[in-house]
Amino acid sequence: MQKLALALAGTLIALNALAEPRSAAVPPANIPYFAANCANCHGTDGRAVSAIPPLAGRDRAYLEETMKAYKTGARPATIMHQLAKGYTDEEIAILAEYFAKQK
Ligand code: HEC
Repeated sequence: MQKLALALAGTLIALNALAEPRSAAVPPANIPYFAANCANCHGTDGRAVSAIPPLAGRDRAYLEETMKAYKTGARPATIMHQLAKGYTDEEIAILAEYFAKQK
């Protein structure tokens, strides 16, 4: 009986992982920590504290397109073109979604 329960639990965990395709790149619970990579310059959760533009509450598509443009070099920058290269397109999408949801 205990073995059956364990097997069922394992199946549920596996199904749960399938339901959240993004968990492969960054587990949902870790996304705020992942986004904290940007806090030094853009403020906590993207709420700007300096002349560097805020990310919080900005348009998701704008954030995603801008990061990709920095990555390819299509949009010139002093800092962001170097940082953006460190992120996969999937991770950029996760960051854009996270910051767009912040108040
Ligand atoms: C070391 C400081 C620094 C860090 C860390 C940083 N940024 Fe930036 N960010 C900048 C600066 C400076 C600009 C203005 C463009 C430039 O000169 O690079 C900018 C611009 C941007 C813009 C364009 C904003 C606009 O209004 O057009 C986006 C989007 C952005 N950053 C996203 C991010 C994300 C996402 C992260 C974390 C992965 C991040 N940044 C981390 C300094 C930083």
